[in-house]
Amino acid sequence: MIHHLADKESSAVDDYLNSALGLEIPELETGREHAHNAGLPHIEVSAAQGKFLQLLTEISGATRVLEIGTLGGYSTSWLALGVGPQGSVVSCEFEPLHASVARENLQRAGLSDRVEIKLGPAQGSLDKLISTRSPAFDLIFIDADKRNNVAYLERALELSRSGTVLVLDNVVRAGHVLDDPAELGLQEADLRGVQQSLRWLRDEPRVSATALQTVGSKGWDGFALARVL
Ligand code: SAH
Ligand code: DHB
Ligand code: MG
Repeated sequence: MIHHLADKESSAVDDYLNSALGLEIPELETGREHAHNAGLPHIEVSAAQGKFLQLLTEISGATRVLEIGTLGGYSTSWLALGVGPQGSVVSCEFEPLHASVARENLQRAGLSDRVEIKLGPAQGSLDKLISTRSPAFDLIFIDADKRNNVAYLERALELSRSGTVLVLDNVVRAGHVLDDPAELGLQEADLRGVQQSLRWLRDEPRVSATALQTVGSKGWDGFALARVL
């Protein structure tokens, strides 16, 4: 049984933290609004989570970041702030509308020079990066179709060096990670993907991983964090 009683309170606390810490950046919030107005789903990270991604990027000294799942470029923008003006972000997205909204939003935020959006199914874009011997990425944020999490993790590992940081979004899904995928109908493949990716992180000797639950304006969820050994 999943309890949602704290959703309202934790969302109000997120609002408070956004304001107390001054987390929101007007250009990025305009971009978020623009994406919602264009009909994109409201599944981008929160401002606090976005700032967390920026800080992880800065703390790890990452200047080369890979993102899987651009949507309207909201998390992309935070990662782009993290790598700084000399850094770069490659972001994979297969919906042309999402990619074009993201490009406009990045342009408005003055971040488009450091971001390259690869349009097309992410597995193909990643395979191309691998086959063209792309230099390793310093941080990789995986946040696309959850059913392909393991495929993305395997490719991420190939695009990593020792010390690369991996972040995998949405591993808790309001507690559904506890459920039997067969009973979930439509979302069966995605839940299976989440559960398989956590076991992959446990069993893959080249990574060391944890997962943290989150609450706030995006409800109850969580992310896995891993370091490539
Ligand atoms: N990282 C974004 C949210 C991404 S939502 C943020 O926090 O701001 C997931 C995105 O992945 C959607 O835009 C969806 O179109 C894209 N996506 C889903 N499956 C994909 C695939 N197979 N290849 C590339 N992109 C995919
Ligand atoms: C969903 C996807 C996300 O990346 C996210 O952060 C929240 C929800 C979804 O597909 O429902
Ligand atoms: Mg996500």
